[in-house]
Order: sequence, then C-alpha cells, then structure tokens
Amino acid sequence: MDGDIERILISEKTLERRLATLADEISKAFPRPGDGIMIVTVLSGSIIFLADLIRRLPMKMRIGMVSVSSYRGRTTVPREIVLDTASLPELHGRDVLIVDDILDTGGTLRVVQGEVSRAGARSVKTVVLLRKPDKAPADVIVDFVGFDIEDVFVVGYGLDYNEFYRNLPYVGVLSPKTYGNGSTP
Ligand code: IMP
Ligand code: MG
Repeated sequence: MDGDIERILISEKTLERRLATLADEISKAFPRPGDGIMIVTVLSGSIIFLADLIRRLPMKMRIGMVSVSSYRGRTTVPREIVLDTASLPELHGRDVLIVDDILDTGGTLRVVQGEVSRAGARSVKTVVLLRKPDKAPADVIVDFVGFDIEDVFVVGYGLDYNEFYRNLPYVGVLSPKTYGNGSTP
C-alpha cells in the first residue's frame, strides 16, 4: 500500500503534534461546558481525525454523525449533495462542533453547516483537518484548520481513494500511476 504513495505530506509525528495544539484551541473556544457540546462528524473521512481529536478534548460531549452522498450529473451541472441525518441527535439549543476531514470545494460543508443551523443549534463551529486554500470558497467559514495544504489529491489518516488507504497513519500524496487509465480522483 505504501508503494502507491508518491510522498508523505504530513507525517504521523506532525499530525500528533498539531492535534495537541488544535485540541487546545478548540477547548478554549468552548468556555461553557454546562451540559457539554455536540459533535457532528461527517462520515467516513473524519473517523481517524475524530478519534484522535476527541480524546484530547476535556469537555463533556455527545457525538452525532452525518453521511453525505454526492451525485455528479452532467459536468455543466453542479453536483447534488444529499445528506443522511439518520444518526444525528437533536441539535436544538446545542453548541455544535462540526468535524470534517478536508475543505476542498466546500460543497459538503456548506450543506452540513446549513442543516445544523436549520436544526436550531445555539452555536456552530467547524474544524477541518485539512484545507486546500486555493480552492476553498470564501462563503464557507471554518473556525479551526489543522493544516493548509497545496492542491493535490491526498489519502490516509481517514481520507480515501475509492474507499482505500483510509488506514494509512500519515497523509500522503497518491502516486498518479495508482489511478492511471485516465480516471483522476
Ligand atoms: P468538498 O465538498 O469539495 O469540500 O469535498 C469534500 C469531500 O471530498 C471531502 O470530505 C473528501 O471526502 C473528498 N475530498 C476532497 N479532496 C480530497 C482529497 O484530496 N483526498 C481525498 N478526499 C478528498
Ligand atoms: Mg469526506
């Protein structure tokens, strides 16, 4: 599997160090522990990030999940993003932290943030592990970013290509020979 990776972009050690400071930033931004916060995580890319992050957060929390499917129709039509909220607890009046793997074009987070606001959350903050600043749109606001990265297709630490590579312990750039035959990610 390592042979499919062109280079390591973010090593295990660097991920671990950044997770510690990121958790600190997030803890300071939720000063009212009260009945705790509500995590809303976006499956499946966030699972490793989520597991490592929440074990570093001291406040009381519940965890809800959403999954997203996107259908890209004709290339001239923007893709339609459909949210499955079956595993999402009641958000009304809650302080919500949305956890996602990567902010790329922002389509996914725009839909998730909209849904959480509509559900009547008291406050909504968002953390992403990765952001591609060259592509991220100005209207999708994220409060915490683990790493800004160049516009390359990455896998590992939860992120996939065709559902593979999520279990790599680092974030790496997929070798172009891996997706060959013209089907770029
Ligand atoms: P967006 O809606 O374009 O912001 O893309 C969000 C989703 O696309 C992410 O949650 C990922 O699942 C996937 N994605 C975007 N860029 C990458 C990448 O470089 N590697 C793996 N998945 C990616
Ligand atoms: Mg994802």
